[in-house]
Amino acid sequence: MSTVVQGLEGVVAAETRLSQVDGQAGELTIGGFAVEELAPQASFEEVLHLLWHDALPTAGQLAELRKKLLPQRTLPQATLEVIKAAAAALVHPMDALRMGCAILSLGDPDPDDNGVEANLERAIKLAASFPTIVATFWRLRDGQEPIPPRDDLGHAANYLYMLRGEEPDPAAARALETYLNTVVDHGLNASTFTARVIVSTQSDMISAVTGAIGALKGPLHGGAPGPALDMVFEIGQPEKAEAYLKDKLARGERIMGFGHRVYKVRDPRAEVLSQAADVLFEQAGDRSLYELAQAVEKIAVRVLEEHKPGRNLQTNVEFYTALLLHGVGLESDIFSSTFALGRVGGWTAHVLEQQRANRLIRPSSAYTGAFNRRWVALERR
Ligand code: COA
Repeated sequence: MSTVVQGLEGVVAAETRLSQVDGQAGELTIGGFAVEELAPQASFEEVLHLLWHDALPTAGQLAELRKKLLPQRTLPQATLEVIKAAAAALVHPMDALRMGCAILSLGDPDPDDNGVEANLERAIKLAASFPTIVATFWRLRDGQEPIPPRDDLGHAANYLYMLRGEEPDPAAARALETYLNTVVDHGLNASTFTARVIVSTQSDMISAVTGAIGALKGPLHGGAPGPALDMVFEIGQPEKAEAYLKDKLARGERIMGFGHRVYKVRDPRAEVLSQAADVLFEQAGDRSLYELAQAVEKIAVRVLEEHKPGRNLQTNVEFYTALLLHGVGLESDIFSSTFALGRVGGWTAHVLEQQRANRLIRPSSAYTGAFNRRWVALERR
């Protein structure tokens, strides 16, 4: 009888040079850099190059990459039509992104070409078009005209511009860029694994990334920051936190933004994002929400320790994601799609990596059903 590892916890299912998560030490390495070193300094375009080519770009390579990304910010007509229909139907922004992503294979000159060059072109198309898909959907759903992308703005700044139609404050653009870099890759998380499984069948990159979006949508993965922010607002004052959180746990609910499959200490991304949020709220001249969140975090960690002693349920990336994205002016229902704008860099890099040394990912299952049933004719059942 084989042993089933529930949730594949602790199972090593791939080799990767893209990122390492050390859950005991609370360390995240992305492309050889500690997240604290890379995320606040790099542009998102530099991080894309790092993941796709295993090196930071030279000035010439960066200019070349930007030149290729810019035209792909404009959506093909078919994608635009899908986004319009999704907005009219008021679907969830993650569903709109999944629909918009799926149709990006239309117009591919050779959809069956799984070579590195063709896939690098697709990776560029995916990374460049995601911000436009989300911003276009968000504005159309709100009854506003979409705003075309601007070539003179970087990836993060252009996303904010397309959402609001004004050039963003440099501090907000930097904070968002730090966020996108922070979440770009994270070991074999559920959505990345999904992408690798799909491409391991020799399927294509667009299918893999479309599936990954589906995996990211769930509240146990990328869907947590919206509810985490709602929770901080509902708590309102530090004195109310303990009773609120205890009530939630007593009802059998989970506290969003806490706990992690791999980290048994505070998620290092929480610190990077907390620092970025600190700068942002300081510059905006109102630190009250940031201070409330810090107080809620402290109390939540204590209450969770009392609730599950020894389980080390610590702050994860989503808690300060919520605060930072709120600080840059995003509404909570596009937090998860904004997560995808960063993670698409990791998904596409993992697809390239899986294809380089592919073996079909096909685990086994332990059968728990019946044996030797005998067929009974329909009229006798
Ligand atoms: N609030 C309350 N209880 C929690 C919890 C949370 N945030 N996270 C874990 N637990 C509890 C579970 O209920 C479980 O209790 P049980 O053993 O009595 O059933 C125990 O701790 C272990 O949880 P489990 O779901 O098995 O651990 P996991 O490794 O699969 O969970 C998460 C990881 C992220 C899914 C989980 O911590 C969670 O649901 N967190 C909230 C959602 C979130 O923030 N997601 C973003 C992740 S980056």
